[in-house]
Amino acid sequence: MIPVEVLESLAADMVDYQKTGLSLVEVSHRGAVYGEVHLETIALIRELMSVPESYSILLLGGGATLQFSMLPMNLLPAGKSADYINSGAWAHKAINEAGKVGEVNVIYDGANENYMNLPDPKSIKPTPDAAYLHITSNETIGGLQWKSFPEFQGVPMVADMSSDILSRPIDIGKFGLIYAGAQKNLGPAGVSIVIIRNELLSESPKNLGSYLSYSAHAKANSLYNTPPVFPIWGMKLVLENIKRLGGAGAVARANTQKAAKLYETIDSSGGFYRCPVNKSVRSDMNVVWRLQNETLEADFLEKSTNAGLMGLKGHRSVGGCRASIYNALTEENVDSLIEFMADFSVKNG
Ligand SMILES: Cc1ncc(COP(=O)(O)O)c(C=O)c1O
Repeated sequence: MIPVEVLESLAADMVDYQKTGLSLVEVSHRGAVYGEVHLETIALIRELMSVPESYSILLLGGGATLQFSMLPMNLLPAGKSADYINSGAWAHKAINEAGKVGEVNVIYDGANENYMNLPDPKSIKPTPDAAYLHITSNETIGGLQWKSFPEFQGVPMVADMSSDILSRPIDIGKFGLIYAGAQKNLGPAGVSIVIIRNELLSESPKNLGSYLSYSAHAKANSLYNTPPVFPIWGMKLVLENIKRLGGAGAVARANTQKAAKLYETIDSSGGFYRCPVNKSVRSDMNVVWRLQNETLEADFLEKSTNAGLMGLKGHRSVGGCRASIYNALTEENVDSLIEFMADFSVKNG
């Protein structure tokens, strides 16, 4: 979801952007009007995520999927290997793509526990001399989330934060690089954020195609080519909204409360609903559950859709049910779902 006030603001300003006589999506990306939006967006990310000056913030196209390839193209030189933690469907994709570029070590494989658990962060020890260690902070399909992050010296930690970026405060200093598609928590699809420690920029190979080079984008402050103007504008409005709400801490408190209520409904249903994910790593963003009687799931999904509760079908690769309760989804929205679930279990239990 995108906050309704953001959608209204986009609509109001679409034709005549702040009385400039032109739409923001038709002015030059090198002009002052867009330039201000671009710089303010980057400044808001820096402020809300407490990104130190020793990191660059890049706004890129291509989705998080491009980052699966761009990351190893920049940071995984021949002769070195990169560590990956396989925590589910998205980590698996990141691993596959990195394997096309260089050598990958899977140092933890969640497939062994059917992707219902994550490793203890304290147990994570990177391969000496690994180029980086990659984690997926929130598995969108499986419904798992790292509650605290591994800490180690020497090897940069990289995180795909596509589905929990700015949902909670993060200590950026622990990471060498963070990437995320904006479309879950931060705005319309079409822009990705990369936050990279400046010292890693010198790793980008000189012969890499320019668009693929972190260093080229950092040097141009993400204006190497025409940036995705519309999603950046939408993201700026979402970031302003997060700031008004009190920042990452306030958003995190609301998210934890929403998720706790929903898990409580599942756990107290006497087995009618069940969440297969280990309690200590259940996601505050994507709550997954099954019905004890799986043949009732189709009925549950049809009736919930009819009741105006949209998008509760689990990902096609795993089935079941999933509520994606990103930042903009309100506690009242979650309450409506809980009410529906309670009613459905009484009628069908
Ligand atoms: C954790 C995670 N990583 C990567 C992606 C891929 O993102 P994109 O569609 O922006 O390429 C997604 C999309 O849902 C995701 O949830």
